[in-house]
Amino acid sequence: MHIDAAALDAEAAYKLVSSLVVPRPIAWVTTLSPGGAVNLAPFSAFTFVSHDPPMVGINVGRKAGVLKDTGTNIHARDEFVVNIADESMIVAVHESAVEHAPEVSEAGLLGLATAPCLAIATPRLAGVPASLECRFHRAVRFGNSGSEFIVGEILHIHLRDGLAQDGRIDTRRLRPICRLAGPNYATLGEIVTLRDLPRTSKNDPGPVK
Ligand SMILES: Cc1cc2nc3c(=O)[nH]c(=O)nc-3n(C[C@H](O)[C@H](O)[C@H](O)COP(=O)(O)O)c2cc1C
Repeated sequence: MHIDAAALDAEAAYKLVSSLVVPRPIAWVTTLSPGGAVNLAPFSAFTFVSHDPPMVGINVGRKAGVLKDTGTNIHARDEFVVNIADESMIVAVHESAVEHAPEVSEAGLLGLATAPCLAIATPRLAGVPASLECRFHRAVRFGNSGSEFIVGEILHIHLRDGLAQDGRIDTRRLRPICRLAGPNYATLGEIVTLRDLPRTSKNDPGPVK
């Protein structure tokens, strides 16, 4: 079978590509509304974009032509928090995607406690295994939908005690949620460990030309 991407309309392309790029991790993002409500929403178009300095990015779409509240709040305050949920929080993650008015706190509606951050005013979620305090770095618009890939520089990393071993997160303890297509999720299956490959550098490419 072959599909000419140019023949797909926007919805068909979304359905196909979002069900092929799986499983995806989930950034459970807190931002502050203009009035100070703690906005919370999940974003599975989420990735790691740089390690020096550490940066992560999320793709934020539009609803009725307007950037989602998360994106609007990030632009207004230049900050956000990427919280990482574990599998016990899967229903709350899903329910936090219900659309509410900008001044409604999804964290409050779901009864999720928050804790202060160190370098930014936006709070993090208190119960999650990990939170990344981020300062807005750059936003780039792609395609006709007006969605924005928003990148933040990580300022502080909050970890549940015992989660890191030798500087790495212990994935079995993290128990991350994997997003599949639509309302489908997965939890971690078998972990396959292969030999360590020889490395000439330790992720240090030298000066960028
Ligand atoms: C698991 C999950 C992942 C999602 N990922 C994205 C995403 O990557 N980008 C996006 O624009 N919306 C995504 N959504 C939809 C938003 O979470 C939803 O539109 C939410 O209401 C946005 O909230 P906000 O307006 O407060 O920012 C996702 C929804 C779910 C349930």
